[in-house]
Amino acid sequence: MTMQPEKIGIYEIKSELGRGGMATVYRGYDSRFEREVAVKVLPQELMHSDPQFRLRFEREAKIIAQLEHSAIVPVYDVGESDGQPFFVMRYMNGGSLSERIKAGIFTIDEAIQILDAVAPALDEAHAKGIVHRDIKPSNILFDKRGNPYISDFGIAKLSQAQAGNVTGSAIIGTPAYMAPEQAQGMEVDGRSDIYALGIILFEMLTGKQPFEADTPMAVAIKHITDPVPHIRNTNPKLPEGMETIIQKAMAKNRNDRFSSAVEMTNALREVARNVTTRLQAVPAPPVVAPASEPTIRSEVKALPSRKGFNPLFVIAPVLVLAALAGGFFLFNGNRTPPTTQTPVSTSTSAPENTDTPTSISDASAVPIVIASTNTEAAPLPTETLTQTPLPSVPVSGGADQIAFVRSNEIWMMNVDGSELTQLTSDSGTKTDLQWLPDGDTLIFISGLTVKSYNVKTGVLDIVTDFPSASSLNAFRVSHDGKQVMIAVNNEIFVVSFDLETMKGVSKKSDLIALEHCILPEGKTKSALIVKEARWAADDKLVAWLFKGPTGTDLVSVLDIQDCTPATIDILDTFPGNRFDAPGFQGGVMLDFDWDGSNQFIFHTARRNNGWGELHVYNWETHRPTLTVNPIGRRCCYRDARWSPDGSYLLFSFQDEGLAEAAQTLLYYVPFGDISAGANLTPLPLPEGFFINPREAPQPALRPAQ
Ligand SMILES: Nc1ncnc2c1ncn2[C@@H]1O[C@H](COP(=O)(O)OP(=O)(O)OP(=O)(O)O)[C@@H](O)[C@H]1O
Ligand SMILES: [Mg+2]
Repeated sequence: MTMQPEKIGIYEIKSELGRGGMATVYRGYDSRFEREVAVKVLPQELMHSDPQFRLRFEREAKIIAQLEHSAIVPVYDVGESDGQPFFVMRYMNGGSLSERIKAGIFTIDEAIQILDAVAPALDEAHAKGIVHRDIKPSNILFDKRGNPYISDFGIAKLSQAQAGNVTGSAIIGTPAYMAPEQAQGMEVDGRSDIYALGIILFEMLTGKQPFEADTPMAVAIKHITDPVPHIRNTNPKLPEGMETIIQKAMAKNRNDRFSSAVEMTNALREVARNVTTRLQAVPAPPVVAPASEPTIRSEVKALPSRKGFNPLFVIAPVLVLAALAGGFFLFNGNRTPPTTQTPVSTSTSAPENTDTPTSISDASAVPIVIASTNTEAAPLPTETLTQTPLPSVPVSGGADQIAFVRSNEIWMMNVDGSELTQLTSDSGTKTDLQWLPDGDTLIFISGLTVKSYNVKTGVLDIVTDFPSASSLNAFRVSHDGKQVMIAVNNEIFVVSFDLETMKGVSKKSDLIALEHCILPEGKTKSALIVKEARWAADDKLVAWLFKGPTGTDLVSVLDIQDCTPATIDILDTFPGNRFDAPGFQGGVMLDFDWDGSNQFIFHTARRNNGWGELHVYNWETHRPTLTVNPIGRRCCYRDARWSPDGSYLLFSFQDEGLAEAAQTLLYYVPFGDISAGANLTPLPLPEGFFINPREAPQPALRPAQ
């Protein structure tokens, strides 16, 4: 959907060179100096409108541009075009180290050649106080003579400063190359780059990354907790001395690492020399039982590139809230099915605890933001994982996860409130949050765009957008994932759904061209301004919340089985004159939910932009089930949801009696307890977790996987 620009700043754009975790790189032409250049365009989101961020961006960019070394890709220019920050660099036409590693493993001497060139550059930057933060094979580029250069110096830091604006601090890096201290959100220094260099060395010599798992998150955790793997288990042909080098470069405690990249290179050279002398004396080094064969040329398959819209901004942050005995934080990830779960080992030595936080008083204290990238950076495992499954996640009401919105970001937690995790950090508005049936994808509306966030890969993507529409109010996918109800430009569509086809949709005629059930005509006209929609459990009925002809909000239940507008049956409309809902005098309903069968839940709008009395209504008996307010009969509620099996309710509560001091609390409780008037306990969120009392948490329960 993004078109290749003709010009960025003064640079003519020729072609796209590629996309990484968060940027697009173009081949461009600088007519002033008559030279080819590479133009790296960062996401618009980074250019925060706050002048402070702009200043910081400019200052950091200048530092990067001033970094000069024969093995650092020179930055020629930094600027902003249509609000998008960009960098202009030397065009490197010799490919990247990641391509070379894919083509086959390196000999020790070949690895030394690379390190010999880049190590002094890294050390010089460190001496100036500049940490790269994203050292990885795709950031080592070759010129046409095959000389290696480090690229993207400091860009991670720059991006991080911008991305961290909403939730406090944030880290951007690539999980596969992230030092433990970086993954834990501590201050980083040159030693984190040394760690990453150790991983590059491991990869050059084995064709594999030391830590592999099926989610970027799980990879990051392994860096924190798993012992450094023995390189000779992956490539038994390597000399023993190689083991020591990898263990030292990748030491969990940064004090134990090489103090410079050059020191590491020298150690490597020493090992190579010993091998040569020893090889002349003895036949071959003893072989350790191989865990897996090193990658060889013919086996290497190119990873499929993602089609369609590339993620704009790929970030999966983790907020770790559990302090463990070792004095450091672990994220006990449960984002994957238990069988492929990465076990979290607590047996490894804890990192130095001088700068390790031991308690968290504030919700934004230690976020780990991981810029998950393309599949190359955190590859899917090629072998079956043989790891012990973790104890299973709690399930209640048929749900295993709660996703919700807080300060414009999506968060996720277990249904008992544990493992609270921040998912996005793009700061875009988010409404109509929902899970797709795959259990991995969350979708939501952001302005006139529908976006998706995959909790497994951390990829934020665009599902569809309606750039010329005046409104996009609802986008609700059926339980079977095959249809979607869309309210765009105050018209209702029920059309076939799949993520791929949706990418081609951007206007009314595109929707009409899809296989459809309801198009805006006939009886559907009565639902003028639809705000939200829900599906019955069997996807045969739909319900929508709309502003009725007299200006009052109403919910209608419609039978769409025939898919012909003429025969659509309106089965019920409430509250209307069905029941006189206390608090509904203003006729404003901002949100509702359906158990998919006979019960609806909704709230009125009394304070803070839509918090009010909570009502449960049975549309088959046309009677209210629960008159009002489960928490001690006090107001006010918002965004109630039925659990997937209809036995639990999730809702947010602000105690009106506490006036301004009222916090937003989330409850997930058996519906039976509510009717019985039991004392209810909110989910254990950190004190003052919700910052904006006018915000709608819009929780979405994931059916247990
Ligand atoms: N100066 C350059 N000259 C030629 N190609 C480049 C240059 N810089 C980047 N590229 C290519 O553009 C593509 C995207 O680069 P980009 O740096 O955005 O991604 P990455 O290195 O994979 O991830 P990250 O953004 O985290 O650094 C890569 O394939 C890279 O090889
Ligand atoms: Mg790069």
